[in-house]
Parts: sequence; C-alpha cells; structure tokens
Amino acid sequence: MDAEALETEAQSAIASATTPGELDAARVRYLGRGSALKQALRGVRDREAGQVLNTVRSRLERALAERRTALDRSVLERSLAEERLDISLPGHEFRRGRLHPITQIRREVEEIFLGMGYEVVDGREVETVHYIFDQLNMGPGHVTRSPLHTFYLDDGVLLRTETSASQIRVMETRKPPVYMVSLGRVYRRDTPEPKRYPSFHQVEGLAVDRGITLADLKGTLQLLLRRLFGDQRAVRIRTSFFPFTEPSVEADVECFICGGAGCRVCEQEGWIEVGGAGLVDENVLRNVGYDPEEVSGFAFGWGLERIFMLRHGLPDIRLLWQNDLRLLEQF
Ligand code: PHE
Repeated sequence: MDAEALETEAQSAIASATTPGELDAARVRYLGRGSALKQALRGVRDREAGQVLNTVRSRLERALAERRTALDRSVLERSLAEERLDISLPGHEFRRGRLHPITQIRREVEEIFLGMGYEVVDGREVETVHYIFDQLNMGPGHVTRSPLHTFYLDDGVLLRTETSASQIRVMETRKPPVYMVSLGRVYRRDTPEPKRYPSFHQVEGLAVDRGITLADLKGTLQLLLRRLFGDQRAVRIRTSFFPFTEPSVEADVECFICGGAGCRVCEQEGWIEVGGAGLVDENVLRNVGYDPEEVSGFAFGWGLERIFMLRHGLPDIRLLWQNDLRLLEQF
C-alpha cells in the first residue's frame, strides 16, 4: 500500500468536506475499521512500516479534528448571523381585543338599572310555548305562534321571540315587590334588512309593587332614554298594543339619518321605534299568582341593536353581525 498516496487522498477528502456529515464519511472511509489504513496496520510486520503508518494515522486524526472544529465554528457563525436577534428593535405589538358594541350597550343598560336598585336576571334562549305565549296572555290564534314567525326546535319548544318570558319566570319564583331587568338574545324568522335581523338583543324590564302607575313607567323610560341618547334627541311615547300589557305604549326616537323628515332607514316615518312597554296585564299577574287588586306593575322590552344604531347613526343593523374590525374598532 502506498501510504503517501493514501494520505494525500485522505487529506484532500478531509479538507473538502463542507458538512459534519461529509467529514464523518471521510473519517469512516480513511480511518474506520474497514479502511485500508486500519487493515494495513493490522497486518504490519516490521517496526519501521508500523511507524510510518501510525504517523499517517495521527496526522489524519489531527486533520480531522481541526476540520471538525472549523466546520462547527462556521455552522455556529452562520446561525448567529442568520438568527440574529436585535433586542433594541421595537417588539411586536399585542392586538388588544375589545367588547362587541352590543355587549357594551348591554353592560351600560345593566349599570343604569343596577343604579336604580334593579336586579339583573338571566333568561333562557330556548323557551317553551307555555312561557312565551300562554303565560304572556297570547291566545292560541296569536300570529307569532306560527312557525312562519318563530323558530321551533321541537313541539312546544322554541327559540324565544322576546325576552318577556323572563318576567314570568321571575314572578313565578318570588313575591312582589320585583324590580328586575333581563338582557339577551332573541330570534325571529325575519329576512335581514337595514332595521331587522333574525337574531337580536333585547332588554326586558319589570317592576311590580304596590301602586305602580303609568307615570312610573314614563319616568323610568324617560330616564333611560335620556341616559342613552342625551337630552338633544327628540323622543315620543305613543299608545300601542301588546297582549301582556294594558295599556301599552311604544317609545320612538327621532330618526338619526333624516332627523325626522322620513327616509329609507325609518321607513318614511321620521321616528325609529326602540321598543314596547306598558302596565302588566292583570291576566299576566293572575297567571303567576299575583293579586291585581294588591299590586300592579310595568314592563318594557327594548332592542339593544336599535339603541346602538340610534346613538351612533349606524344605518344598517347587519353591520353588527359581520365582525368587520374596521367597524368594531371604532367603539
Ligand atoms: N316583548 C315586546 C316585543 O318584543 C316588547 C314589550 C316588552 C312590550 C314588555 C311590552 C312590555 O316587542
């Protein structure tokens, strides 16, 4: 075996290895168990030849070690250069979330009523015909009982069309006086349009006590209107009809788009309805075991989306359901 030729070949393989893997392959090939050098060493008979081969071996081992150090350093240097972290650069800003505008209105309304000593009560989004219609004095022929108006989940089980059932559930479980509000989502089979959406939110209010009159209702609604819209916006309270209140009224706020002249958003009315109200019908009081001779009450149910639209001049309720950050970030 030509030791010199072998060394030249091995040295150039070591020198030209550019990765730890290539270098390892060269080590196995020239210094491994099966390498020509190891075999020659094993078969060596005289001292001199042994010395020559051993010198070659230790020079190759040194070359390997040096090359390994050099390669390791260049790997390290490359990763230091490529993954360089400049800690003086400004960091990534965390995007802070915020409450949806309807949640903000909801909390605001809750605060107003908590401030007047009302209780905030949870209702159920899945309700029964009994609580939504029967107990609320809506006869068997009432139009919203139709599956064309209401989403039924099962026989007698439906997505609530209004929060008013929460009145019944509260009155059934306690004696008067009752002062409560209940806020949440309701569902109606409506086609989405600027003022209507099949799902929206209401605040239901109920006060039952001795001697409650329409004047108490009017004062409470006016306070709420003023707190929500300020003193500038014209409001009106007009008579209406609901099966569960008698007499019934509706509150309207001057249209924010046309200022009362009439436009598409207010359907040429000049006013936008925020919701209904009235004195609790005697039949409803009797249904829950209250005595209409002893107590009377008022109730109201207003739409939270309406409140928001009126306050901020939002022309289309559907915008509140699109989760477009360009809108939501403004509130
Ligand atoms: N529940 C009625 C509606 O959804 C509103 C209302 C509530 C009216 C309470 C009177 C009393 O339109």
